[in-house]
Amino acid sequence: MDISVVATHPFNDQKPGTSGLRKQVSHFRSSHYLENFVQSIFDTQTPLRGAELILGGDGRFFNREAVQVILRMAAANDIRKVTVGLGGILSTPAASHLIRKRGAAGGIVLSASHNPGGPNGDFGIKFNVANGGPAPESVTNAIHARSLEITEYRIARAEHVDIDHGGTSTLGDMAVEIVDPVADYADLMESLFDFDAMRTLLQSGAFTMRFDSMHAVTGPYAQEILEHRLGAAAGTVMRPEPLADFGGQHPDPNLTHARELGEVMFGRDAPDFGAASDGDGDRNMILGRGFFVSPSDSLAVLASNAHLIPAYRDGLKGVARSMPTSQAVDAVAVALGIPCYETPTGWKFFGNLLDDGRITLCGEESFGTSSDHVREKDGLWAVLFWLNLLAVRRQSVEEILRDHWIRFGRHYYTRHDYEEIDSSAANALMDRLHSMLPDLQGRDFGSMKVKAADDFSYTDPVDGGVSSGQGLRILFEDGARVVFRLSGTGTQGATLRVYIERHETAPDRLDQDPQAALAALIELAEDLAEIRTRTQKERPDVVT
Ligand code: G1P
Ligand code: ZN
Repeated sequence: MDISVVATHPFNDQKPGTSGLRKQVSHFRSSHYLENFVQSIFDTQTPLRGAELILGGDGRFFNREAVQVILRMAAANDIRKVTVGLGGILSTPAASHLIRKRGAAGGIVLSASHNPGGPNGDFGIKFNVANGGPAPESVTNAIHARSLEITEYRIARAEHVDIDHGGTSTLGDMAVEIVDPVADYADLMESLFDFDAMRTLLQSGAFTMRFDSMHAVTGPYAQEILEHRLGAAAGTVMRPEPLADFGGQHPDPNLTHARELGEVMFGRDAPDFGAASDGDGDRNMILGRGFFVSPSDSLAVLASNAHLIPAYRDGLKGVARSMPTSQAVDAVAVALGIPCYETPTGWKFFGNLLDDGRITLCGEESFGTSSDHVREKDGLWAVLFWLNLLAVRRQSVEEILRDHWIRFGRHYYTRHDYEEIDSSAANALMDRLHSMLPDLQGRDFGSMKVKAADDFSYTDPVDGGVSSGQGLRILFEDGARVVFRLSGTGTQGATLRVYIERHETAPDRLDQDPQAALAALIELAEDLAEIRTRTQKERPDVVT
């Protein structure tokens, strides 16, 4: 095998964010940029030598080229075998499953999740470790440190590898296996849920659903599972063809970006159930007829109904949520008598809790939910969980939520995003708020009193690792909260996220519009942080 050792120089911007390294496509295509980061993975992740690596992505622009580069670099870096999804495709949860199922030493997932794609969009690369989950901070820090001192990378001089036909071939001493990206994942779903009950519901003639794949990776997965295995009507899956530019849209499952699905679900003769997933298939949005389920509520409902699902029949070991996620699931955990962990934003923090058997379910307010079946959030899994629930309870989505609120109270919740703001203005806003924290404690705002105000820090109960600076929290005595943090996944400027929550138990006040129910807190947050003047924006760009 002919191997080139190519001289390179370090880039100073290869620190992975909340979920891998994300940059604009043009940036990734600049000379040596992708290669440097991949070599930094191979240099630091010694368990990969002589072992198997899983490789695939969400099919966005540059996915196929990146697969070819990574295959040739893997061959030059003593990887024994690379298993690739057909066409270079693997959804994030399917990649996680494949790593676990094959006992691979890790995986490389090519995606920028819900960020737009195409030549002018974003690209991303994420390294997952042997448990199938995103690399923990210790690993991403090592990769970053290596990227700052790298001087050369190794790449095989080889022909283009055919990734469009199944089967095994070799690249030098390395084996390359091209596998069906859908089959193993679909089998896993079939092992967790009651497909018979779901089939009966979907074929009863009295139930309809729509699933919006947003021209992203879940199209083939959703068609196989919903339409082929469960017999949902043809056309149940909207926008099923994965496109390199996602049809020019943001593949982000919320009511701003999945507008067409929203129109169907809030229109006349709406289906009973609607859902959508994102670019790489790890997020989910759940809708009933004319009804939006807040992701934090969804996590709580799944936890309190888990015993109705075959895979979770014996109960949950515990649950976890990211800090900004609402406390709805905490209330369920108390009722179930199980622990509830509060982690920083980002899926990587759930890995240790899942591996250590401390939790079964976990989720984030950002439309992410999953369980111990993989080590990533899993969009279709959440949709199937809901479908299984609907098949068993024979109630509407709205009825299930209303029952839940009557039992646990309603955690009114919203997130306001101010996107692409000037980075220095965003940092100044956060610095100022940070300096105000000590004085906020004990302060009264109308009828509300601040109980505590801090910068969230997390100590991992399994490995003792400390992650600080994870978001500014203002906690009120009645349990209400306002949280401020800057996004770690954007590629342009800064994005300020403001998370607002309040618990309501009065039975006659469970039916308000969340923006109205939270109006006083929203105003307080805007004033306190001087959001309008500092971001130069009258209102948030995205409200979820
Ligand atoms: C966002 C979400 C976070 C999620 C991540 C990856 O990160 O807020 O919950 O884990 O995307 O999907 P952020 O941009 O806020 O850093
Ligand atoms: Zn995603």
